[in-house]
Amino acid sequence: MKAIVYHGPGKIEWEDKPKPMLLEDTDAIIKITHTTICGTDLHILKGDVPEVSDGRILGHEGVGIIEEVGTAVRRFKPGDHMLISCITSCGSCSYCKKGMYSHCENGGWILGHLIDGTQAEYVRIPFADNSLYPIPHHMDEEALVMLSDILPTGYECGVLNGEVKPGDHVVIVGAGPVGLAALLTAKFYSPGLLMVIDTDENRLEVAKQFGADYGIDSKQVNPIEIVKGLTEGKGADVVIEAVGIPATFELCQSLVAPGGIIANIGVHGKPAYLHLETLWSHNIKITTRLVDTITIPLLFKTVQSGKLLPQQLITHHFALNDALYAYRIFGHAAQEKALKVILTA
Ligand SMILES: NC(=O)c1ccc[n+]([C@@H]2O[C@H](COP(=O)([O-])OP(=O)(O)OC[C@H]3O[C@@H](n4cnc5c(N)ncnc54)[C@H](O)[C@@H]3O)[C@@H](O)[C@H]2O)c1
Ligand SMILES: [Zn+2]
Ligand SMILES: [Zn+2]
Repeated sequence: MKAIVYHGPGKIEWEDKPKPMLLEDTDAIIKITHTTICGTDLHILKGDVPEVSDGRILGHEGVGIIEEVGTAVRRFKPGDHMLISCITSCGSCSYCKKGMYSHCENGGWILGHLIDGTQAEYVRIPFADNSLYPIPHHMDEEALVMLSDILPTGYECGVLNGEVKPGDHVVIVGAGPVGLAALLTAKFYSPGLLMVIDTDENRLEVAKQFGADYGIDSKQVNPIEIVKGLTEGKGADVVIEAVGIPATFELCQSLVAPGGIIANIGVHGKPAYLHLETLWSHNIKITTRLVDTITIPLLFKTVQSGKLLPQQLITHHFALNDALYAYRIFGHAAQEKALKVILTA
């Protein structure tokens, strides 16, 4: 079969690899129908995730059809259409029992990281009963690729950890796919004010189309003054960090109102300042989280009822065998006005 294979920083190839085989009786082999590229794949390509070894197939998102299951897989059978969670979970370790699949002692984020991933014609999924979700009939399967990672991430790490409530003043820093996913799912709770900060005009425009009340270009204006101006000088009740650099985490600390919550989503590679000299008396909370994908079943229902339209996040389509070209386009997301790209087998 063909796959996107990592060969060290800056090097990926679309090349032949052996078709995966069942290794454990809890495994399933999936024939990929649609997959995508994540910002995290670009981090891997830059060499930011050194655990990814030479020869690894990338990708941790996708949908497909079961080709084969191990003898212990009880819930699914060949021919079933499945959504693949970016997080593999055994369902029985102490973290899985708490719903913290991200820290599963036998899984976690391993796809396209520590084991071969989804940017391939076939993928092996460990603990299939717990790591795959059946797709109901008549659903737009390519749109559901957004439920593998982006939507649960925005929802769990941003909206749920940020405890967004009706009437809340919410600011999201970063209007990439993850920040926009937080925006779409924050709307479930009817916040009073949704403000989005970015430096990319196009993404701010998209945020407004998706329901943001204000798109704030932090290259043009002082975002702290604008947010304070919109919130009677108080700042926001919920501040969601969806960039992952020290400057934006520090900005969040200037945007949060007394009693508010900073919900960090961004993957940080460098230390950032925590301004306790100001915040010690502000009764704030700061949360961090690696996505658990435990809300995938709930998000399925919101898609089925038309409350959530994940296809809004898709801007580009390619054939799976054009994956290298898709990487080039996605690597220049700002110029190409790209959010999520779909690769179809
Ligand atoms: N916690 C988790 O489980 C989890 C899961 C998936 C992704 N992530 C992380 O979430 C973050 C966002 O992911 P994404 O795919 O949307 O990334 P992205 O790179 O597509 O989007 C980031 C956005 O931030 C904007 N930005 C950059 N610098 C800025 C600045 N100084 N001020 C304001 N805006 C700025 C960019 O213009 C871009 O629109 C990343 O750090 C990613 O690694 C975390
Ligand atoms: Zn991802
Ligand atoms: Zn587990």
